[in-house]
Amino acid sequence: MYRIHNKCRICSGEEMDEVLDLGLMPLANDFCDAHQEHSGYAPLKLLWCPRCTLAQLSVVVNPNILYYNYPYVTSKSQTMLEHFSVLTGDLMVECGKKSVVEIGSNDGTLLEYFAKLGFDKVVGIEPADNLRTLAKKRGIESYRGFFTEATALDVVDEIGFTDLVIARHVFCHIDNWHAAIHALGVLCGKDTVIAIEVPYFPDTIAKVEWDQVYHEHLSYMTIPAMQAALEGSMLHLSKVTHYPIHGGAIVMLLKRNDCGIQPGSLESPKVTLADLHKFAESQALQVKYLRSTVLSHVAEGKRVVGYGASAKSTQWIQACGFTRKQIKWVCDNTQQKQYKLMPGSDIPVVDEGALTRELPDYAICFAWNFAEEIMTKEKIFKAKGGKWIIPHGEIKIV
Ligand code: TYD
Ligand code: ZN
Repeated sequence: MYRIHNKCRICSGEEMDEVLDLGLMPLANDFCDAHQEHSGYAPLKLLWCPRCTLAQLSVVVNPNILYYNYPYVTSKSQTMLEHFSVLTGDLMVECGKKSVVEIGSNDGTLLEYFAKLGFDKVVGIEPADNLRTLAKKRGIESYRGFFTEATALDVVDEIGFTDLVIARHVFCHIDNWHAAIHALGVLCGKDTVIAIEVPYFPDTIAKVEWDQVYHEHLSYMTIPAMQAALEGSMLHLSKVTHYPIHGGAIVMLLKRNDCGIQPGSLESPKVTLADLHKFAESQALQVKYLRSTVLSHVAEGKRVVGYGASAKSTQWIQACGFTRKQIKWVCDNTQQKQYKLMPGSDIPVVDEGALTRELPDYAICFAWNFAEEIMTKEKIFKAKGGKWIIPHGEIKIV
């Protein structure tokens, strides 16, 4: 199911420091029907390579198991659409608006956005059959498969070089970066702009977003790590822009070395070992706090539920050891997750309407990255006395 990873995937350094050990964890998106067996558990440990400053997991779970029938569909939330609007606007300044290839195009939501903006060629690359089918329904064609040199060659053969290549939250899932960077080079014409969006590790640790650490996220990005990864390749990092989405993300623009434009200087905060230790200590405190808060509410006869069956919710539920005794259900607006069981805990996932139908006393907002929007939407719950628990940074009860 998994193999041990003990050599840095960028610089091959073998001396990596352990940052966080979450023990055995289920696969965060392994939602199952009642009659299905879960894929199982794998160790989840975060390591830090002091040489190139890439944080990375100590195991690599077989991607065929992780992504075969992937339930994560790109959010259609207002927060996400606003991000797409800002992001596409920013990217159009960089590369015009004609053609785009998206790596990990999911159900085609972002590509549909580009099509509406007037791009005349929008093409996806996506390994999950169920997601490619959804994209096709939107009129978006996607190549089948993981992102490899062979897939890149197929795309270039068929449609030539594009103005833009975009990969949102994909690079953190890739095991062999050198192969992926090589494949990016294949896809990249002299004037192509490559945009890679990833969670930004300095944000992850500063805001203690430890629930971003799960088996799909093999790497945790810093700017020096990306620069080290590109060394010796035909690409360089030309610009980095910070966005607030998902608790803090960066979009890194890559260009070919022969593009004729000199990159500007890029600044980035230095992550120290002390920062990493503080992150691990704060993580343990957060888990302890949420666990004791929920246990004491349940002991008083209060009903506690979860809102948003995010991958993050699996991490919290597992780390806190919650079962149905503490959390009755987790609601989610994703059809692919509804009426299934949470990985590990077997807590049922229900539809969003459950919140107003059942009016529990507390709802833990596991989709904290959309908390404002969700709380605005779920006014009745609040008006009837329901309280939100937001497990992000210092855990808040609203
Ligand atoms: P998300 O934060 O996108 O991802 P991850 O799985 O990487 O942690 O997950 C948010 C989940 O919350 C997703 O399953 C959709 C769900 N959700 C709702 O149920 N209602 C909402 O209004 C929003 C914004 C999200
Ligand atoms: Zn390294």
